[in-house]
Amino acid sequence: AAHAAEGASTLTFPPLPHSYDENSHVAEGYEIQTLIRWGDPVVAGAPDFDPMNQTAEAQSKQFGYNNDFVGFMPLPVGSNTSDHGLLCVNHEYTNPDLMFPGSPGAEDLTAEQVDIEMAAHGHAVVEIKREGNTWSVVKDSPLNRRFTALETEFELTGPAAGSDRLKTSYDSTGTKVIGTCNNCAGGKTPWGTILFAEENFHGYFMGDVTKTAEAENYERYGVGGGRYAWGKYHDRFDVEKEPNEANRFGWMVEFDPYDPNSVPKKRTTLGRFKHEGATTALDKSGHVVVYAGDDQRFEYVYRFVTAGTYNPDDRAANMDLLDEGTLSVAKFNEDGTLNWMPLVFGEGPLTPENGINSQADILIDTRKAADLVGATPMDRPEDVEPNPVNGIIYAMMTNNTKREADQINVANTRAHNRHGHVVEIIPPGTAPDGDGANADHTADQYTWDIFLLAGDPSKPEDGAMYGGDVGENGWLSCPDNVAFDSKGRIWISTDGGPKSGIADGVWAADVTGPGRAITRRFYACPQGAELCGPEFTPDDSTYFAAVQHPADEKGSTFENPSTRWPDFDEALPARPAVQVLVKTGGGAIG
Ligand code: FEO
Ligand code: CA
Ligand code: CA
Ligand code: CA
Repeated sequence: AAHAAEGASTLTFPPLPHSYDENSHVAEGYEIQTLIRWGDPVVAGAPDFDPMNQTAEAQSKQFGYNNDFVGFMPLPVGSNTSDHGLLCVNHEYTNPDLMFPGSPGAEDLTAEQVDIEMAAHGHAVVEIKREGNTWSVVKDSPLNRRFTALETEFELTGPAAGSDRLKTSYDSTGTKVIGTCNNCAGGKTPWGTILFAEENFHGYFMGDVTKTAEAENYERYGVGGGRYAWGKYHDRFDVEKEPNEANRFGWMVEFDPYDPNSVPKKRTTLGRFKHEGATTALDKSGHVVVYAGDDQRFEYVYRFVTAGTYNPDDRAANMDLLDEGTLSVAKFNEDGTLNWMPLVFGEGPLTPENGINSQADILIDTRKAADLVGATPMDRPEDVEPNPVNGIIYAMMTNNTKREADQINVANTRAHNRHGHVVEIIPPGTAPDGDGANADHTADQYTWDIFLLAGDPSKPEDGAMYGGDVGENGWLSCPDNVAFDSKGRIWISTDGGPKSGIADGVWAADVTGPGRAITRRFYACPQGAELCGPEFTPDDSTYFAAVQHPADEKGSTFENPSTRWPDFDEALPARPAVQVLVKTGGGAIG
């Protein structure tokens, strides 16, 4: 069966067998290198990793925990180099039981350990270089940088900035925030800035939300159900002490990685929700279009179109392009069309009669506005990303076991959807075999299709659907992040395979022709881990694999993790890390 799958596809690597063991694996003919791990020095003066003597000060200068989004930004700025660049990496969350000696629970953490957790969140910028076929980090580069939840200052910009609902006891302007958290996926802009997401921000806040004026909003987002103890030591993470702070999280951040002094900005135009990420397409009109998902069961897919247009000759002129434009939300129709419903104050139901008094209200209560315009509830939208070759947007619906049979809709067709699916969102002017340059990313109406339904095709109860025979190892579960190679082939990384007994990893497929949606396994994570950050260099010669929470399994501890990946050293715990995958002897991957 695997042989049939090989014949139909343009992919030439042999399928990697399913696995579930201590190590990561790549298809035959390829090599794995570990580039950077939790605790490795990032900024000048950072100490080496010392797991038994961790401090917040050291962690603030070192690579953070749980690396998620990866963006490769060629050096110098504006070039298309593939052997030198800035690796921009998100640090989503922390696993204290795997990070600290004695495996404490969140409620047992000391003040210093909480600060270490806060410093292990955020984002890292690391200069990297390739010599021959080998990648390494440029130590002490002046461009290396860390953003954390602990002390980095962020600016709120756009129509909601300065709103009374964003003011706190320490910021009477409603424009300055300390920190970022749950930085999941992200994206890159045509002018060479990075977008990074604030996803499950709700879990960082403690206190009784019903004692605040934001109770309805906070209940809609789940604020207050904290799995973190940050509010014990930092008042701003306790809604009873700082009732508006949770309105200052849940945004998309934009920053310029090429300027080590650039101020990161939370762009309120892109709405406030559990942002998985945000990816851009440059429309033929010059408008820049951002696609994004809200990763929770029954939440929505969004699009933002800039008011202004991109200026390819003046980088500085684009720097605040994302501060003005129109946010809309997707409504999938039975006839195969999709409407982008604008979220604009005063239009349709978005009026004071429904509790919406300004555009700032729409942006802060984005979910409420989307509910009012009749958006389609999806099976947890993770990455939503345009394929630069055909211009179609591929949206990963990771899973939704809570969807009942009477809640099935046209674009979410399985009850108790364990394995997730991939939806194609198709702008006018293009098709799977079409040219992305002709796509109209500003149209009010698109069409859509189901690309694949994940699961094991040998199990009828899974209801899986691929483009053809994927063989024994080609099936996947819980699509999460996605990347495209320069041929427009799709590379899907997963988060949830272990529930089906297979390691997470990445699967590739053609999007058109006889190999369409026939997925093939390329890389496998170590046990307990999920795979994030699929990213290629511009020449496809290097693939960046971000492995989060290795050894995150029942019974696994700091002292006795189920794997000591990637060091396999008795003196070191399991460590999240970014690996690079290259072809033996060099050349394009795939
Ligand atoms: Fe952070 Fe939706 O995964
Ligand atoms: Ca994710
Ligand atoms: Ca991606
Ligand atoms: Ca996920």
